[in-house]
Amino acid sequence: MKRPILIHPDPRLKKVAQAIPDLSDDLRQLADDMLETMYAAPGIGLAAPQIGVDTRLIVLDCVKGEGASPRPIAMFNPEIVAESDDRSIYEEGCLSIPEIYADVERPAEVTVRWIDRNGAEQQEGFDGLWATCLQHEIDHLNGIMFIDYLSPLRRQLITRKMVKLKKDRVREKA
Ligand code: NI
Repeated sequence: MKRPILIHPDPRLKKVAQAIPDLSDDLRQLADDMLETMYAAPGIGLAAPQIGVDTRLIVLDCVKGEGASPRPIAMFNPEIVAESDDRSIYEEGCLSIPEIYADVERPAEVTVRWIDRNGAEQQEGFDGLWATCLQHEIDHLNGIMFIDYLSPLRRQLITRKMVKLKKDRVREKA
């Protein structure tokens, strides 16, 4: 089932999300719902707080290009355990901040540890778009958004735009 995505500013996007003590079928269903929501948006990553769920779960699929096989991943309690000194810059966007894009510099490679949908611990190194996307999504679990890396002025302008967008959407529905 597709879920509505929260738009910034929203206090639920600024919270540190709760760790998952035990995997359950409900959580696996939540991961499936999040993947469906992400692909429909369309997006390459989504974190549970973005649909108003206070839990440390992210989903992503950063495979690009026509004909490439998708690689949907759900990560429960993901953590970055190592990062490279090398940095890279990507133009980032966010499903909670529609139509805004900005360059963000982050470590180029990260090693991530997580629990998979079968409850097994996994660890893997990622680079390129995957590394950026993982850092962006794990940031969401800590109440951090990509605009937090921009200047205060730029962030204020974007926030004002989003407040207006939300008002317009409410008006359209009325
Ligand atoms: Ni995002």
